[in-house]
Amino acid sequence: MSVSIVTGASRGIGLEITRSLLANNSAVVTISRSVSDELRGLQSLQLDIIQGDVADRDISKLAVDTAIAKHGKLDCVILNHGILSPVGRIADLALPHLRDSRGKILMVSSGAATGAYAAWGAYNASKAAMNTLAKTLAGEEKGVVSLAIRPGVVDTGMQEDIRRVGKTHMPPEMHSKFVELHSQGKLVKPQDTARVYANLAISSVNENLSNLSGQFLSWDGEELKDYR
Ligand SMILES: NC(=O)c1ccc[n+]([C@@H]2O[C@H](COP(=O)([O-])OP(=O)(O)OC[C@H]3O[C@@H](n4cnc5c(N)ncnc54)[C@H](OP(=O)(O)O)[C@@H]3O)[C@@H](O)[C@H]2O)c1
Repeated sequence: MSVSIVTGASRGIGLEITRSLLANNSAVVTISRSVSDELRGLQSLQLDIIQGDVADRDISKLAVDTAIAKHGKLDCVILNHGILSPVGRIADLALPHLRDSRGKILMVSSGAATGAYAAWGAYNASKAAMNTLAKTLAGEEKGVVSLAIRPGVVDTGMQEDIRRVGKTHMPPEMHSKFVELHSQGKLVKPQDTARVYANLAISSVNENLSNLSGQFLSWDGEELKDYR
């Protein structure tokens, strides 16, 4: 049984990654600041829900300690909640255990990392830094696979927010693009992109996966076709 930590699991992509991992008989420790009814509804012996902010070192430590105390190992950390500085903190806490399991760190990145989207300076920069962190870790930690993966434009609360309040600060044509993707039914379903992260988390590391370490990939790219 594989053991993963998923950050930002109360809704959206993180909730679906958690659902997919549990459906594959994996154990999961989740972190989110609130606990939604959907997440609570997944409750099982294989799920530990930790309520708190990943920015709080004690919360990240509790997640790592819970995985080790209950399951004796940690195979994967999926950094989905999306803010940079706490990302580094939980990665550091988890690394000794990921070295032992020859595990993985999967970062939920974004096209914004390379897209330099207008009005999203801090978001663009934090996702670009996330990609660099994945690359750096791959160089430093040869026994741990580190990947930054963009999930596509996904039908979650984040897109709802963009449609609702994006008009006030985004260029009109950019806002319209997101509104149209939604109205034309072209947003990626959270469960489709989540499956890729979950399948990567439960897969053992083979040579192909090892060779991808450090890269910025797209959930629907050729490199990840075996995990969709
Ligand atoms: N949706 C898209 O189109 C899209 C596109 C590209 C990249 N992404 C990336 O995908 C990831 C997930 O996004 P989403 O669309 O699923 O967004 P979402 O529906 O807004 O979910 C974000 C999740 O992160 C949690 N979270 C946020 N800050 C946290 C913190 N400091 N500590 C613990 N949990 C925290 C939230 O729960 P609480 O509020 O309960 O803490 C929630 O569960 C993000 O990294 C985002 O940048 C999304």
